[in-house]
Amino acid sequence: MRNRFFLWILFLSGAVLFVFTLIAAYREIAPEWKRYQAQYKEQIIKLAKDDATKKKAKELVPAVQQIYLGTLNRIDRCMSCHMGVENPMMANAKLPLKQHSGDYLKNHPPDKFGCTVCHYGQGRATNKKEAHAATRDTHWDFPTIPLKYIQSSCTQCHDYEMLSAKGYDNIAKGAKLFMEKGCRGCHKLNGIGGALGKKLDVVGSQPIAYFPMRFVEGDRNTYNWHKQHFTDPRALVPESEMKINVKPEETDLLATYVLSLRAGEMPKDYRRIKGTQTVEKPDEGEALYRMFCIACHTTGKDSYFDEIFNRTIPAIMKPAFLKTADEKYIKKVVEDGRAGTQMTSWKATAGGLTGVEINNLIAYITKDRPSAKPERFDFAGFKTDLKRGEELYNIRCALCHGKKGQGGEGFLGLNLRNPVVQGADPEFLAITVRDGRSETSMPPFGKKGVGFTDRDIADVVSYVKTMSKKK
Ligand code: HEC
Ligand code: HEC
Ligand code: HEC
Ligand code: HEC
Ligand code: HEC
Ligand code: HEC
Repeated sequence: MRNRFFLWILFLSGAVLFVFTLIAAYREIAPEWKRYQAQYKEQIIKLAKDDATKKKAKELVPAVQQIYLGTLNRIDRCMSCHMGVENPMMANAKLPLKQHSGDYLKNHPPDKFGCTVCHYGQGRATNKKEAHAATRDTHWDFPTIPLKYIQSSCTQCHDYEMLSAKGYDNIAKGAKLFMEKGCRGCHKLNGIGGALGKKLDVVGSQPIAYFPMRFVEGDRNTYNWHKQHFTDPRALVPESEMKINVKPEETDLLATYVLSLRAGEMPKDYRRIKGTQTVEKPDEGEALYRMFCIACHTTGKDSYFDEIFNRTIPAIMKPAFLKTADEKYIKKVVEDGRAGTQMTSWKATAGGLTGVEINNLIAYITKDRPSAKPERFDFAGFKTDLKRGEELYNIRCALCHGKKGQGGEGFLGLNLRNPVVQGADPEFLAITVRDGRSETSMPPFGKKGVGFTDRDIADVVSYVKTMSKKK
């Protein structure tokens, strides 16, 4: 009895082993690509109109199809499955046997270009999972790119102009959005732009490990990362200070564009790029404003409390501001930025703008400056009392500007400690306190408002001007 039981166990485990061996052997003899090649052969024989073609099809022997690309340093075996890419008989076949769409392979013959220059993916692999490399466990940094982003690979070798002229205009559209959505308010490209985010010159060739993938939905690859990051930066990078204002259909174009920003050059005989590849910055004021300021200052007409920065972004094109702030003051803010806030320096030496560009920008910002000047405030007429100024400040101003004048971090008021405000003409500050900034949270403290006397104002302003020294 017992013996028989063990005999059964032995028999069963033997059978299981046998089945596994069979499966392994089958995989070896009949890998995925062989299956597709068999289907291909079958279909060609069926579709062949003449005997010669039929005969040739019958002679097809299954073999890995491989293209060796010496100067590009790659071997592409995609055609082992994508057998019909160059065969018009396969125009209506199903993938992977289908003929390639468009003129792409006419313009780029496979024996010279292969497939991965445009599609990426792992050229040497002969099973679909490894070749497309879309899943994380394949450890390949550039999986086959979703077709909606594929134009990002064309700029390795072509100019925007040629591509747009031929109807491949996603890249140019993406570049235009990039310039108009104020991305360069925080990102440098070709050395020019803001400093809150990283420079983006080669972001398209960063490996997967470079990006925080933890919260990405679906396959964890760079394509999904960019798309989801443009949809909601904080869903992927919870502490991100990135601000974007894009429609869902614009995220694909922006992703196409940033994916095209790649390091490393194609060998010369593959490149057809004539001039510089980036869209250059304009020099007139309005376009500069769009490119560099709009992401944070929006239309410039509204002062608002920004939830992401946790501080107020002032309305720099509002009459209430322009009435008191002269060119010199604005220029100083733009050139030096405001230390301790997201407003970075825009000096040329900081990767910002030239003097001429800053002047053009300021001419645009101040174009609606009211002609009526504010009533003068003769600061020189007062002998100021700092102690009194401090008391008034603590009662009247600290609740918005913070006890130390730091602003931001939840306070409504601006930072008053920075060198630009500290160095500003006291008269400008006094008029701002006296008249406030209508339609913003900065109230008028003069007779028409809170009821400060000119002396109160002079005292409080002289105190404000000592605040950078406060610890
Ligand atoms: C083992 C077979 C196999 C290999 C090797 C292979 N593919 Fe595929 N490919 C397929 C199949 C099957 C499909 C059909 C869609 C699917 O099942 O994902 C496909 C679909 C595609 C598509 C269309 C995707 C879409 O969104 O419609 C592209 C592009 C593609 N492959 C590119 C490549 C490239 C580039 C390579 C070489 C790096 C390659 N494939 C290697 C089997 C393969
Ligand atoms: C010059 C760039 C380029 C090269 C080289 C290239 N492709 Fe494509 N391929 C494209 C583009 C662009 C599309 C998207 C076509 C569209 O949507 O109109 C595409 C689409 C595809 C598709 C989806 C089905 C289809 O035909 O639309 C497959 C599969 C594919 N390519 C496989 C390959 C394979 C295999 C090779 C190598 C023999 C290859 N491609 C070489 C640019 C290229
Ligand atoms: C690896 C470099 C490379 C990539 C990537 C590449 N091309 Fe090309 N392309 C070439 C070269 C080289 C030629 C041949 C030009 C010639 O013969 O003078 C060419 C020719 C063309 C032509 C026809 C020639 C012309 O000037 O009218 C078109 C259109 C074209 N490519 C579009 C594309 C598109 C769209 C993509 C992206 C899907 C792409 N190319 C990707 C290198 C590339
Ligand atoms: C208010 C400033 C700001 C603006 C405006 C802004 N970004 Fe960002 N961006 C950031 C910051 C900060 C990060 C780093 C945190 C993160 O990944 O979200 C970042 C990250 C990125 C990254 C990842 C870069 C890397 O190397 O990790 C890309 C790509 C990007 N931004 C593109 C854009 C595009 C495109 C726009 C315009 C539609 C834009 N950004 C507008 C601040 C900004
Ligand atoms: C990343 C966001 C951001 C960008 C981009 C940005 N700013 Fe600012 N800006 C701010 C913030 C925040 C403040 C308020 C700083 C404070 O609290 O002191 C500010 C303040 C200012 C002020 C001072 C206004 C006042 O009431 O004194 C001026 C002027 C100004 N910005 C002009 C510009 C110009 C011109 C550009 C484009 C070249 C620009 N900013 C780009 C965030 C930004
Ligand atoms: C209710 C909140 C609030 C109070 C109270 C307040 N401020 Fe302001 N203050 C603001 C805001 C908001 C701004 C920015 C307005 C804008 O968008 O231009 C501002 C702007 C300023 C500016 C201009 C700074 C610059 O960079 O151009 C000065 C100076 C200033 N306040 C000083 C004071 C002083 C001094 C007091 C007290 C007597 C005071 N504020 C009280 C909210 C306040």
